Amino acid sequence: MGPRNFPFQMSIALKIKNISKSFPGVLANDNIDINIPEATIHAIVGENGAGKSTLMKIIYGMIQPDSGTIEVFNKEQKFNSPKEAINSGIGMVHQHFMLADNLTVLENVVLGLENASLKPINKKKYNDEIESISKKYGMPLDSKITIDDLGVGEKQRVEIIKVLYRGAKILILDEPTAVLVPQEVNELFENLRSLKKEGVTIIFISHKLDEVLEIADGVSVMRGGKHVGTVESSNVSKPDLAEMMIGKSLPKPPKRDTSASKSICLEVKGLNGEVLDSKAPFSDINFKVKKGEILGIAGVEGNGQRELTEAILGVYPIESGQISLNNKDINDLETRTRRSLGVSYIPEDRQSQGLVMDSSLIENAMLGRQTKERYRTKFYNINYKNSKSFSEEIINNYDVRTPGSATLALALSGGNQQKFVVGRELNDEPNLLIASQPTRGIDIGAQALIWEKLRDARDSGLGVLLISADLEELLGLSDRLLVIYEGKIVKELLPKEATPEVLGAYMTGLEQ
Ligand SMILES: Nc1ncnc2c1ncn2[C@@H]1O[C@H](COP(=O)(O)OP(=O)(O)OP(=O)(O)O)[C@@H](O)[C@H]1O
Ligand SMILES: [Mg+2]
Repeated sequence: MGPRNFPFQMSIALKIKNISKSFPGVLANDNIDINIPEATIHAIVGENGAGKSTLMKIIYGMIQPDSGTIEVFNKEQKFNSPKEAINSGIGMVHQHFMLADNLTVLENVVLGLENASLKPINKKKYNDEIESISKKYGMPLDSKITIDDLGVGEKQRVEIIKVLYRGAKILILDEPTAVLVPQEVNELFENLRSLKKEGVTIIFISHKLDEVLEIADGVSVMRGGKHVGTVESSNVSKPDLAEMMIGKSLPKPPKRDTSASKSICLEVKGLNGEVLDSKAPFSDINFKVKKGEILGIAGVEGNGQRELTEAILGVYPIESGQISLNNKDINDLETRTRRSLGVSYIPEDRQSQGLVMDSSLIENAMLGRQTKERYRTKFYNINYKNSKSFSEEIINNYDVRTPGSATLALALSGGNQQKFVVGRELNDEPNLLIASQPTRGIDIGAQALIWEKLRDARDSGLGVLLISADLEELLGLSDRLLVIYEGKIVKELLPKEATPEVLGAYMTGLEQ
């Protein structure tokens, strides 16, 4: 099947015409032609590195194409900056929120607008305007609340209202559901439907095919920089879509029995985190991870899981309590020493914590192991030869799509950066793996590969503390589950007793 677009009698909000863009060694967008009808929700799906974000950045004026044009409401446009795109009615909500946490909703919405900075801001006027937008689109929001006091779903709503306030008629959402619990996803989808009803055109990127089929009218599939086809979601099944995306049928990780042994890998007793902004990010935490066991922690982001994992690593200070690894107290050990005892870490934010973005994959391969003999010279310089072969091992074993190991981390697509970090941390036979969002932003094919690798590592005796917002992943991989809410473990349960809805209820505090 060749590329196919919607019938032309529908009015087209955005015409992407013959867009090409190359980076050194990669043709990221190869002559892309996609028409996006007005007042529809249009999904873009495809493997990691397929070229989705590149295309969105071109539409939003963040980067310029080598050739091709775009037409917005039948007018050809050439954007040199996001500002110009915004002026033509295009808005983008990035996956990582860009809000100022200590300011109010109102201040965030008007932040950066001309005039707003010159005079004391006219709160009443802005307040009325925001209220009318939030009413019109059915997105309730109190504009006086500080961002800090909002949940993730509400923060996202602020981002969307901020974009609408700037007059967006075309809204781009890059993986908006990655951080949401099921209830919040439902709310977001209700909002998107009412935006559509009001005439807004929405471009939605996601790796979750169930969501895509639920919310989108049309779906464009990209593979290897090319547009391989556009289908109406009512005419397509999940396996069909997977087939178009990855050229083979939907992978399913096989269920395996637990391989937990009797011996304990990690034990945390009465752990209290140091007070930050007048409250402890986590308190009275008790759990054990056995060798060969995956202990899952479910929770909405921002409920203390990041500080807790950092405390186990020795980065976040603790007030009291005890952490032991293989029955040995590690409270007083430096992070580096904990690492050398076999603690591996996949951080939730691969870009700021997992990689040095403007360094090569060769250099990134030995991050965290620079003092190990294999990766250094006698004089503690990097052993390039061994680092290079290690980086290439990761690239091959984890299907990292890149022109080569000398490529800078920043030139990889988001999902490929993630695969590289996972590969690095699973290597060297760790004793304990702390995995935060290990497959965030990873396509369905590569996700199955990583699940497989995590299971294999577990089966051979690795203890894993798995923190994930992906409930399917938590339920599918974990041997046992804990739910964290406002810094406390509020529930322990077995995956077979839980459903995403049950978990979601504990995660949002509805159920205690
Ligand atoms: N700034 C850059 N420099 C060099 N190469 C880049 C740059 N940005 C993207 N690329 C390359 O372009 C290709 C497409 O990347 P893009 O980020 O568009 O993929 P994607 O479809 O969004 O993937 P993902 O699902 O992983 O986010 C990849 O091969 C990537 O390595
Ligand atoms: Mg991307």
